[in-house]
Amino acid sequence: MEDTVTEAVRKQYEAYSYPPPIEDAEKFLRKWGPLTCDPKFAGIQLWPEGRPRQDLRILCAGCGSSQAPLIALNNPDCSVLGIDLSETSLAHSNRLRDRHGLANLELRQMSLLDVGELNRSFDLIICTGVLHHLPNPDAGLKALAEVLDPSGSMAIMLYGKTGRAGVYLLQDILRRLGAGQNAEGLAMARELLKFVPSHHYLISTTGKLPNDLAEDAGIVDMLLHPQDRAYSVPEIMEFVETAGLIFFGWSDNALYCADRFLSGEMLERVLALPAAEQWAVIDNLTVLNSRHDFFVRKPHNMRFLTRFDTDDFLSYVPLVRSGVRLAGDVNSLILTRASLEGEVVTPISKSDALLLEQADGKKSIAQILSHSLSTGGEPEQRTNFARAVFERMWRSGHLLFGRSNS
Ligand SMILES: C[S@@+](CC[C@H](N)C(=O)[O-])C[C@H]1O[C@@H](n2cnc3c(N)ncnc32)[C@H](O)[C@@H]1O
Repeated sequence: MEDTVTEAVRKQYEAYSYPPPIEDAEKFLRKWGPLTCDPKFAGIQLWPEGRPRQDLRILCAGCGSSQAPLIALNNPDCSVLGIDLSETSLAHSNRLRDRHGLANLELRQMSLLDVGELNRSFDLIICTGVLHHLPNPDAGLKALAEVLDPSGSMAIMLYGKTGRAGVYLLQDILRRLGAGQNAEGLAMARELLKFVPSHHYLISTTGKLPNDLAEDAGIVDMLLHPQDRAYSVPEIMEFVETAGLIFFGWSDNALYCADRFLSGEMLERVLALPAAEQWAVIDNLTVLNSRHDFFVRKPHNMRFLTRFDTDDFLSYVPLVRSGVRLAGDVNSLILTRASLEGEVVTPISKSDALLLEQADGKKSIAQILSHSLSTGGEPEQRTNFARAVFERMWRSGHLLFGRSNS
């Protein structure tokens, strides 16, 4: 029996399927590349120790109109189950399944709260943009945790509190005006948007209205949603812990990277805090994050958490994230790449660059150091130099880390 909030959420996504359906999944992947939660893209972020198996069993929980077919198409060796409340979104997904002949994709209309009834377990669970719409998100994450294989990984996206402050102010106005999810409510929302001043939180970080507000379904999803909450960084940590899971890292550290937004004494102060505190500070300071994309796992995988405060980091296998470019000249080198909210630019020294050149996704840091002629000095000095460089590159998200089993 559906509760009234879940019924309202289902009805919304049946009337206003979101994200907007796509016609051709192949064209979409060619244009945009894989989704950031795709195991082909997020590989070592999900399993630094290597995939548990090639034929991953993947669950897209709250798959919407296209996510499950996109994952199935890009991962033909894997089986993908997409579940969603919305018949309309599933129908769009089904059309893509037929169009691309995706025999590895199964779709079911059901709540993710009931996923345990399937008596199946999954190596990868993707749940992006869904749990924050549940009346009880904790119950949702727990239901998913129960069907996650012990060596499995989960990719989650939750709304961010700081970047969505303006959204909630507008939602509040529209609620007071009695705007419903219908043509009249949409017209009211469009009319209201004309009066939003440029200094409003909805606009101030990017200088323009969010792209989603161009379409009816986007307006409904953002401004007329019956059930929607957002998270601060500490709330995410608590959310994950309450479900008995381990926070395993952000999809892109650059959005939480103290070095990008601070300098001098303030940077030193913030870097002295534990990592999760640093991320909370930067999220509060930049107010950039309207979404948080991150990975979680079961506690027994804790030994794979990235950390640099012990010499364990020497066994990490660094890999340069795709899209990172080395630019500048010998006197001022920079690493640069595009992120969700703009270019990430990190100045580096020539000795940093020589070390990073060897980050090929095959050699461990210990192997890099034993081969490297560039970092002279005593072994302890070399280790500490490498620790500082690799940690800084991890903080900026330019490097990802696998684990060597040797
Ligand atoms: C914003 S869309 C996100 C779709 C997809 N995950 C993506 O990132 O493209 C949210 C989806 O979650 C679904 N949903 C909401 N609550 C759900 C629940 N309890 N069980 C299953 N699906 C749910 C909605 O029907 C909707 O299709």
